[in-house]
Amino acid sequence: MKNPLPKKQDAPQEIRWHIGENAAAVSAEACRRILLAAEEAIAARGWFRMVLAGGNTPEATYELLAEGAAAWSRWEIFFSDERCLPRGDRRRNSVMARRAWLDRASFPPENIHPIPGELGAMEAARRYAIQVEPALPFDLVLLGLGEDGHTASLFPGHTHPEGDLVHPVFDAPKPPAERVTLGVAALSSTRHLLVLVCGETKRQAVAAWRRGADLPIRHIRPPGPLDVLADRPAAGDR
Ligand code: 6PG
Repeated sequence: MKNPLPKKQDAPQEIRWHIGENAAAVSAEACRRILLAAEEAIAARGWFRMVLAGGNTPEATYELLAEGAAAWSRWEIFFSDERCLPRGDRRRNSVMARRAWLDRASFPPENIHPIPGELGAMEAARRYAIQVEPALPFDLVLLGLGEDGHTASLFPGHTHPEGDLVHPVFDAPKPPAERVTLGVAALSSTRHLLVLVCGETKRQAVAAWRRGADLPIRHIRPPGPLDVLADRPAAGDR
């Protein structure tokens, strides 16, 4: 698929819900899907370009990936968003991903593209857009869903210039307030999109999404379907 264009905003969002028994089942399925997508991408194009989600949910998936073997030298890693904190700060999404996975596998350092959040949101967003543009379309974007329905650092009710690939954020309701996030256009430019949602605390956000609430995730429209891996507590299944 040469540089697939995101779906039009009026096209129905195609979502495939996959409900796992618990968070461990979700992480195992996410790991399986990521490795499969990587194999396909590397066989077809020689590279696998993946965007990592932040927060806590994906950590178990990253740990499973670290335990496996893959052609890491053919993987290129980007981040969906980053918190504007000093380098090495454990609250940064890239620090979590390195601890759980990236520093435990043989990635060539140049294959990992952290968002330079330590430079402040404006400068980091400007620089990251220059790195993201030539990497599009991604092969797989991994996202989470916050309790308030945010995705990456795109928050409900917050607007951003549609044409920008990367946005500075200064008023994030989830601390820290200052962040950098890939925008809808960049997150939609992907062959696979996987959303991981686990835990009772996400039930309302999942229900709102399913009800058609105007959440940022609804505006992310890759050419193909969104695959949502949720555990029973998040999906509202008893
Ligand atoms: C962040 C993340 C954010 C995260 C959701 C879900 O910086 O916090 O990028 O978008 O994916 O908030 O977070 P949990 O997985 O911790 O619930």
